[in-house]
Formats: sequence, C-alpha cells, structure tokens
Amino acid sequence: MDSDGYKKIIEELINLIQEGVYIVDEKGVGLFYSEEMAKNERIKVTDVIGKPFNTAFPRVSLNDSTMYQALRKGISTRNKQQTYINLYGQEVTTVNSTIPVELNGHTIAAIEVARDITNIRSMSDTILKLQEDKLPNNKSSVNPRIKKYTFDDIVGENAEFKKVVSRAMQAAKNDASVFIYGETGTGKELFAQSIHYNSNRAGKPFLAQNCAAIPESLLEGILFGTAKGGFTGALDRAGLFEQANGGTLLLDEISAMPYELQSKLLRVLQEDYIRRVGGTQDIPVDVRIIATVNEPAERLMEEGKLRKDLYYRLNVVGLSIPNLSQRKDDIPLLVESFLEKHDKAFGKELWMASEGALKILTDYNYPGNVRELENIIIQSVSMAESEHVLTEKLLQMPKNVVKLGQHVEKWDKKEPLNVYLEEIEKEMIRAAMIESGGNISRCAEVLQIKRQTLQHKLKKYGMNL
Ligand SMILES: Nc1ncnc2c1ncn2[C@@H]1O[C@H](COP(=O)(O)OP(=O)(O)OP(=O)(O)O)[C@@H](O)[C@H]1O
Ligand SMILES: [Mg+2]
Repeated sequence: MDSDGYKKIIEELINLIQEGVYIVDEKGVGLFYSEEMAKNERIKVTDVIGKPFNTAFPRVSLNDSTMYQALRKGISTRNKQQTYINLYGQEVTTVNSTIPVELNGHTIAAIEVARDITNIRSMSDTILKLQEDKLPNNKSSVNPRIKKYTFDDIVGENAEFKKVVSRAMQAAKNDASVFIYGETGTGKELFAQSIHYNSNRAGKPFLAQNCAAIPESLLEGILFGTAKGGFTGALDRAGLFEQANGGTLLLDEISAMPYELQSKLLRVLQEDYIRRVGGTQDIPVDVRIIATVNEPAERLMEEGKLRKDLYYRLNVVGLSIPNLSQRKDDIPLLVESFLEKHDKAFGKELWMASEGALKILTDYNYPGNVRELENIIIQSVSMAESEHVLTEKLLQMPKNVVKLGQHVEKWDKKEPLNVYLEEIEKEMIRAAMIESGGNISRCAEVLQIKRQTLQHKLKKYGMNL
C-alpha cells in the first residue's frame, strides 16, 4: 500500500474514535486534526492543519506545550489536565496524552489524544465554591443542613458498641488519624463528627468528602485545589485540605480514591503540606484525617483497592462499628430515642412502642442499619394521629425479598418472562432506593451492582428520584 493509502486509513480511524486526535510532523506542522479535537478545543480544523502548533496555539507557552515536550525532548505525557486559552480567547480544559513517534532514532511525529473536560472542570470549581460558602468563617455561612453531632447523640448500650464509643472518646482527646469501618448507616459520620466537635479542633471546620461521589479525575483538584500554573486563565482555588486547615477532613469511602492519589495523600500526611494541582508552591496544612470504608480493610487491601501503607498511616485509631443486627439489644433504646426526636419534629405524641411492635422491629435484620430503623420510625410517626403507643398497625416494615416459589405463583403466564423479570427488577430497585434513602451510590451498593449500571436501569425504567 502506498503512503496515501496509509494516510487515508489513519484519517478514517481518527474520525471514528471518540477522543480528539492531533498529529504533527517532525517540524511541528499539523498533519491530522480530528473534528472531535476541533470540538474539544473550540477551534476549526483549518486553524491547525498545515500550520505549526505554536501558530495554532499561540497562547500556550513552549514550556507548557506537551506537543513541544514530545517533539523536541522526546517526553511522553499521560492523562495530563491542561487549561489554556485557545485561538479565540476561550478557556478550554482537556486531559491530554502526548507521545513522540520515533523511527530509526529520529522523532518523526508527535501524537496527542485529548478529552474535553471543560464542563467537568467547571463542575469541580462549583463544588469547591459551594464548600467554601459553607465554611463558618464565611459570613453567609454555616449550612443549616449540616447537622452537628456529638457523643450525646450516639445511642447504644451494647457492650461491644460501648467499647467503640469509648475508643472514639479517647481519640477526641488527641490528634491522631482515625480509620472507621462500618457498613452503610451504622453511624460512621456520627462518630466522625463527634470526635471533631469534642476535640480541640471543634472551633475549626469539619469538612466531608465522599471519594466515590466524584469522578476520579476531579478528586485531586477537590482535595488539594488548583493553581494557575503556567496556564493563562486557569482558576486559583483552594482545595478541601486548605479549607479545612486547623480542623478535620472526613474522607468517606477512601478505597474509591485512585491508587496513585492514595500515595499522594500518604505523602501529604507525612509531610504536612500540599501542592495545588498545577502549582509549584508548597502550602503547609494542619488537618486531621478521619477516613471511612464500608467493607473490611483487609478485603479492600487484598483486592488492591486500598494501599497498605496508607491504611497503616490512617489506622492509628481504628474503629469498627458493629451492624445493627449484631446489637439488636439496642433496638428498644434506639426506637425510644427516635420516637422522642421525631415526635417533636412532626408535632406528634407517640411516647412508646408496644411489645408487638418491638418484636417486629427486633425480628428484622436491617441491611440499612440504624439509618433504616430511623426511617421506619419516621414513617410511623408521620402516620400517627393522636395515639401515644406505636403499635404494629403503624409499622411499615420493608418487604423482605419474595421467596423464589412465590414469584412462580405470581407470574401471569400471558406475560412474557422478560417483562415479568423486569417487573421484579423494578421492585427490587424501588425497595433498595427506599432502604438507601434515595442515595444512588448507596443503592447500587445494596444491589451489588455498579453505579453506572443502576443509573442505566433507572433511566430505562423511567424511575426518577
Ligand atoms: N448510634 C446511633 N445513635 C443514634 N442515631 C444513629 C446511630 N447510628 C446511626 N444513627 C442515625 O443513622 C443515620 C445514619 O448515620 P451515619 O450517616 O452516621 O451513617 P454512615 O455509617 O455514615 O452511613 P453511610 O455509609 O451510608 O454514609 C444518622 O443520621 C443518625 O441519625
Ligand atoms: Mg456516611
């Protein structure tokens, strides 16, 4: 095949794939520039083809140009986030991989593949901005939805549970990192806040970030902030570490943090300073870290989701909160305290639970733990009228999964099997949604499916939250 043939094949390939592609020859002149890339960089294909890259991107300095680094210095760059101003003065953020192409010891071309993340980038800026607005030193300040918990709010007399509480109380007296393991709804946030608000950091911010709730590529910027760096127009923004300075940062589901970022976090914890993404300055920070996981740490380390070195650094104080099904003796006490708490909110007067109601409440096994019990009580209180006793009648227990045989009985044979299976699936999703309080990540966990899979199903079934 002649070179025109190869050229044609590459052209077709480049226009086929999702990512933007930009190829320059050994002189840095644009050979290929895909439509997708033009869309990403908000310029025209003709602005680039046949032109040297520094003419097409006049506002990117050579030092910051990954194309230049590849072509002149033979340096490859992988998945680097770049924010720059394009030919038309617009700010663009992409994630680039750029490599030199070498043949017989000479660099003959450079290839750049890029994804446009301008929208994601502005989302991360918005998240940080919202977080800043919530800080107490901000006049408009304290977000009323953020409830401050202290040890007085933690209900439980179970012996194992009390051991955990007393370890947490000890932890409040010092500054060590805390690692909490507990399944969903067991009270991890309650413990984390109690430790903070009973420590001498209480007057400083308590911030929380769920590592699973943010796209991986954004988490680093959220935690450590972003700097202008060499890129004109990029925003300077403090990350959560700077915002929480002097206080406590709760990192939920730390095992969802990308492995490389986990080692960066470890370095920060050892050295007590951070560097903003794209920045050059070391900024000292004093932040206490409380990390949580909802699967046993040993399993997460085995599966390669949690770095051992980070775990040992964080697990100075380790708290393992038992499931509610392992401390059913606390159910009557919890019921009593939730009745009191929510009576006030609803203006009702349910003072106690009947024996029958308590039996039903104790028989259930609570995959959603204390949160689920509390939701059941809230539902009962809201339905009560003027009675003072919570009876079976007011209780709406989550339906346990129907036994297999029952499904066979329920199936109307006129309905195709796949339609009926979809009905069952919808029912299970609905139940899991209630159990998880409408939180998609949590719901996906309950169903043991990927979050994206759940989102796909919700869309397919038109189930809105
Ligand atoms: N021991 C407890 N005493 C009183 N209330 C509790 C207790 N544990 C949990 N709760 C209640 O359950 C709710 C859920 O607790 P929390 O948010 O701390 O759970 P979590 O372990 O962080 O869950 P997730 O893993 O889903 O984030 C709290 O809002 C609180 O009202
Ligand atoms: Mg939590």
